[in-house]
Amino acid sequence: MDVEKVFHMKGGLGETSYARNSSHQKKGLEMVKHITIETIIDLYLTSTPHTLAIADLGCSSGPNTLSVVEQIVDAVDERCCRYLLQSSPEFQVFLNDLPANDFNSIFMALPDFRAKLNKGGSREACPCVFFAGVPGSFYGRLFPNRSLHFIHSSFGLHWLSQVPPALMDESGTWLNKGKMCVSESSPPLVSKAYFMQFQQDFSLFLKSRSEELISGGRMVLILLGRSGHQREMGHTFYWEMLARAFACMVSSGEVEEESVDSYNVPFYAPSMEEIEGLVHADGSFRIDRLEMFEIGRDDSNSMQDGGSMAMAVRAIQEPMIRHHFSEGIVDGLFQQYAEMLDAEMAKREIKVPSLVVVLRKSK
Ligand SMILES: C[S@@+](CC[C@H](N)C(=O)[O-])C[C@H]1O[C@@H](n2cnc3c(N)ncnc32)[C@H](O)[C@@H]1O
Repeated sequence: MDVEKVFHMKGGLGETSYARNSSHQKKGLEMVKHITIETIIDLYLTSTPHTLAIADLGCSSGPNTLSVVEQIVDAVDERCCRYLLQSSPEFQVFLNDLPANDFNSIFMALPDFRAKLNKGGSREACPCVFFAGVPGSFYGRLFPNRSLHFIHSSFGLHWLSQVPPALMDESGTWLNKGKMCVSESSPPLVSKAYFMQFQQDFSLFLKSRSEELISGGRMVLILLGRSGHQREMGHTFYWEMLARAFACMVSSGEVEEESVDSYNVPFYAPSMEEIEGLVHADGSFRIDRLEMFEIGRDDSNSMQDGGSMAMAVRAIQEPMIRHHFSEGIVDGLFQQYAEMLDAEMAKREIKVPSLVVVLRKSK
């Protein structure tokens, strides 16, 4: 699978789109909002640029990216107007994702975003915010040398640049049969192959960003993670259930077993120690914060019922599944998946471990 060409969230505003099925990520962003705001304010106060250049990497096509931009602009604007008695800086905002992302949906939301920022036209001087879309992989250079002050990236960095190459043994047998990524029953070789891919990708991410950020520039990175053993339960629950839904389709003859065995996703949830080790090995950043938090039940948006969680996973997985299998299986698979999730989630609350990392460019 050529991840750069195939991978994207389900675009548009339809029932199965990422835009309408990203409340889980939204909840995670709310949980660490105070960290994002503290970081941008501290950065602004120590650098006071005339134009603040910020980038959201892996912005996708839903409302979350503009919510983050709004939080950042509002926080800096309030600090300037209320406490520093000076006008806000101008903001240059770069929205990045892979080329197949539905950038148009975000751009179409910009008039409403601007109206909201201007509080419905009631403000005398509204902060100037200039947007640009930047298609390309964040596992490589995206911006000119030392051109950014602040980088935000949420729920994108657990996606690898490719499925690790070493998932087949010498006789051509798939090592992770029936599973899609590291699971409780995966052999150690599979865990190792995924970790090596993450190591390579995250190191390249750090190297690229260290060239693009100014000295003292900051990054707030939010990604799915794990607290201990590589095959622990947590986010893996959702992959396990998807594997079971596929197994049912194999039993009923709707999908070939071989197609399921050869379906692997470029997903890896690192531990705090793994992140720490890679940041130190790169040597260009200081870790200001590294914390784990858990995204759990949220009664306000009913995201913990099986149906809505199945929709959330579908919005992320559908393009890859269509590419590997066929469009025909998608509805049946996710119907099955929703029923399985409902049954399991009635018995226990599933919490998804996540990490927030704040890095400061040190040289
Ligand atoms: C789950 S979405 C998160 C979107 C948004 N940041 C949020 O918090 O709701 C992950 C996004 O990361 C993007 N992504 C994954 N790998 C990427 C890469 N190598 N370069 C740029 N974007 C990438 C995906 O295309 C997807 O839109």
